[in-house]
Amino acid sequence: MPSSTPLADLCRLTCAALLLAAPLACGEATETLTDAGVTPEVDAGAETPDAGVEPTVELVLPDTPYHYEDELLPAHFRVDTFQAHSRAVYLDDNTPDDNPITNAGATLGRVLFYDQNLSQNRTISCGSCHKQAFGFSDDRVLSVGFEGGNTRRHSMGLTNARFYAPGRFFWDQRAATLEDQVLMPMQDPVEMGMTLDQVVARVEEAEYYPALFEAAFGDAAVTTDRISKALAQFVRSILSTKSKYDVGRAMVGDRFEDFPNFTQEENLGKKMVVAPPPMGGLGCLLCHTGEAFIAVQAMNNGLDLETTDPGYGEVTGAALDDATFKVPSLRNVAVRAPYMHDGRFATLEEVVEHYSTGIQAHPNLPLTGFFPRTADGSVQPLNLSVYRKSCLVAFLKTLTDEELLTDPRFSDPFVRQ
Ligand code: HEC
Ligand code: HEC
Repeated sequence: MPSSTPLADLCRLTCAALLLAAPLACGEATETLTDAGVTPEVDAGAETPDAGVEPTVELVLPDTPYHYEDELLPAHFRVDTFQAHSRAVYLDDNTPDDNPITNAGATLGRVLFYDQNLSQNRTISCGSCHKQAFGFSDDRVLSVGFEGGNTRRHSMGLTNARFYAPGRFFWDQRAATLEDQVLMPMQDPVEMGMTLDQVVARVEEAEYYPALFEAAFGDAAVTTDRISKALAQFVRSILSTKSKYDVGRAMVGDRFEDFPNFTQEENLGKKMVVAPPPMGGLGCLLCHTGEAFIAVQAMNNGLDLETTDPGYGEVTGAALDDATFKVPSLRNVAVRAPYMHDGRFATLEEVVEHYSTGIQAHPNLPLTGFFPRTADGSVQPLNLSVYRKSCLVAFLKTLTDEELLTDPRFSDPFVRQ
């Protein structure tokens, strides 16, 4: 993955410029999106005190902070009607009152997200396992931690994480809030291997943080609460609203209508995903709901007949939650292979084949309405034709937001040579 934007490479200025400009610029919330997008970037002078280890790492931030706050959502995210299982997305917003997104807060979060100094041997950042080009997921089945160990499960995409009403995070939903979640990878013995005290010390020793904390929180004091808030703001600001699907959705009043910008295959695939079963849908929308294509609770989708990973059941201890997992948003799914909590499927075609012929009647697979059952209660395979399977894949690809995958606001601000 590229570690900097072409803009950053072209327009790097001097260290002193940002150190002077940052507190002023960050304090002003008046810059516009267009301004932020074209502002030349300046060098934040980011040689860390022990830069001897990595001599050529520098932090490059725009002199006017990028725009993250009060992002105007498209009309179909704001619509206040309950169209057959298409919940208005804002109802699912998990932003807490005490941590709204600000430009300065998300900017600090971006730096923390990509800062390798937050792992024990300074080799891994959040961005190592959540890669922008792959929808903030990882192309590896299991991700690799600071000492080369594998994560227990496949990495998750972070797109539209803000729109999940229960506000719980991880496949097994063990984090009750995003603010809790963002501190957990740093303390994970495989992922980043730190204590929170060590994290605070690392942040305090880097010369680029005081100005960023001051801009975000009013003074330069480093606390775990502030680190958590800034990281959560950054993650919540990663919104996908500009895919081919969104362009088509804005052209019609109702998502069940054919989109004028879609091919016939994409429109048929859309119907299979967003229409309720009596209207030609396959039940996908019952779990991948609304414009964020995410559920309102953990579910089981019949990957295995018996529990191999207890998922949310491990957190609640309730048998009914066994082998249920957070339902991933389908946003950017085409760039997020491999799939499922264990990365078992390498392609979208394999995922579609699972839903067509592979669903297993795990005791927690929802009984009615979701997937067809025979009279004796066993799963009736959908047995989709080759054409219908290709339509489904074609539709899933319309959910890719190319702009988000290269948006400098979410890119790595550290230039490593
Ligand atoms: C070594 C790889 C690795 C690193 C480093 C890492 N993550 Fe993750 N992340 C994962 C994996 C794997 C999961 C899924 C784990 C699970 O559910 O058990 C995950 C899940 C998440 C989720 C849950 C998404 C959801 O929808 O529930 C968020 C948010 C997240 N990570 C943010 C971060 C942040 C912020 C950092 C840095 C502080 C970070 N991650 C560092 C691998 C990593
Ligand atoms: C009963 C709820 C349910 C239904 C119905 C459902 N899904 Fe899923 N889907 C899930 C869950 C839960 C997962 C994650 C499972 C896991 O990893 O253990 C998932 C995962 C996926 C993934 C992989 C996403 C990723 O990031 O790994 C895709 C793609 C997907 N579903 C598409 C569909 C399509 C297409 C349909 C309709 C044919 C559908 N789903 C129907 C619950 C459901």
